[in-house]
Amino acid sequence: MPRMAADLVFRDVTVVDGSGAPRFMADVAVTGDRISAVGRAPGGRREVDGRGLVLSPGFVDTHSHDDGAFLRHPDMRFKLAQGVTTDVSGNCGFSTVPNEPGREYMPGDISGPGSSWTDLESYFAACTAKRPAINNLMLVGHNRVRAHVMGLERRAPTAEELAAMRGHVARAMAQGAAGLSTGLIYAPGRYAETEEIVELAREAAPYGGLYATHMRNEADRLLEAVEEAVGIAREAGVGLHISHHKAAGRRNWGRVGESLAKADAAHAGGTSVTLDVYPYTAGSGPMWQYVNLDAIDREWAEGVMIAACPDSPQFEGRMVPEIASEQGWTVEEAVRRIVTSPRGKEVICIQFIIDEGDIETNLRHPRMFIGSDGIPVLRGNPHPRLFGTMPRVLARYVRERGVLSLEEAVRKMTSAPCERFGLAGRGLVREGCFADLVLFDAATIEDLATYAQPKREPRGIRMVVVNGQVAYEDGVHTGAGAGRMLRYRSEG
Ligand code: ZN
Ligand code: CU
Repeated sequence: MPRMAADLVFRDVTVVDGSGAPRFMADVAVTGDRISAVGRAPGGRREVDGRGLVLSPGFVDTHSHDDGAFLRHPDMRFKLAQGVTTDVSGNCGFSTVPNEPGREYMPGDISGPGSSWTDLESYFAACTAKRPAINNLMLVGHNRVRAHVMGLERRAPTAEELAAMRGHVARAMAQGAAGLSTGLIYAPGRYAETEEIVELAREAAPYGGLYATHMRNEADRLLEAVEEAVGIAREAGVGLHISHHKAAGRRNWGRVGESLAKADAAHAGGTSVTLDVYPYTAGSGPMWQYVNLDAIDREWAEGVMIAACPDSPQFEGRMVPEIASEQGWTVEEAVRRIVTSPRGKEVICIQFIIDEGDIETNLRHPRMFIGSDGIPVLRGNPHPRLFGTMPRVLARYVRERGVLSLEEAVRKMTSAPCERFGLAGRGLVREGCFADLVLFDAATIEDLATYAQPKREPRGIRMVVVNGQVAYEDGVHTGAGAGRMLRYRSEG
């Protein structure tokens, strides 16, 4: 059968195909939005010399907070430049759906402000109109659903309120959400008893959906929190995905092994469990959510850096103890003043709470994916994970330390999350798959974003292709705008 000329051919490239199989040399052709040949390719309208470079499927950021960014920053440069072609958004219980236009749901909502849409379908339409650079899959967030129905009230829902919440989760699932997410350390999610979450997660079961959770505790009561999460998934009949797995606080360092053992036991017992991790020793989020003003935790505060602070931008990029001594405040007083200032609930902080050894333990786990947890607030000093996560895994943990092979790292960033999150037809360099691709130099790829200079784009990424269109090439964003809104387990 005579073949049509391909649109794009990578000639003599080293293919790391996403399956975890050893790399191989081939030509890879792209025609329209699909991979049309792997092996020997006919001539292409555009030929790219792949010698010395690796071609892999586009990376999946399984833990993003980019719901709002798809509208505010549709170029998605901070993700595209690191090889991410698909985001899983709506994490930690924060999502842009359901939405009542004009309503402010909670201070410092990291999913971004709502606008004209009401549900997932209309949110997707708003995103598509912006021609975003990368693909987006969504979870529906418990914090948002609860706030939509009952505000920030600290009580159990009535039967009517619970029914209304179930309805919103069901609607999002019917419109293509991958599952329910929770953020059980955050208000209002933390006001929910376990049973409420079970009831809501049940709505994901008919779709084979997931329960993705920022667990109720990631520190002293980590193991109990894993038990709660496993119990919820088992009762609801859904798969469990544990977000940004860690053992927070110095006295808990080294304990991710115990937590992973619990997850493995549950998995062996029939409740499927996957997880994600970011390759940094600091977390980040809305500061007021971590602070109890009646008992400010000094040890915690000493490891906190201010990322974004609208009332005092001069604090951005600096550690709380340094700010305190400069201002003549105690550390506790500094925390209090920062979070209670007029726009204090918009303050984003970075907290150094994670053990380097635990990151490696996490990365070695076979069902561990990579999720940046980046918060796309571009003013101030965001956590460098927003710009550097994927290249950092490939540079620091693959090339420098040999914690995992390149093939295994790429599998964790591609086929493994695509299978789990129902990204049909994606995640492999294989004929017929969607052409989401990254061309990079495995010898030089490196994250350049640091806590001091967090917005530096990585090096070593030569080209990123999204749905067959060249989206990024040698540092230049092409403006192709080929990203799509993806629905769980349906090709699109
Ligand atoms: Zn979280
Ligand atoms: Cu998160």
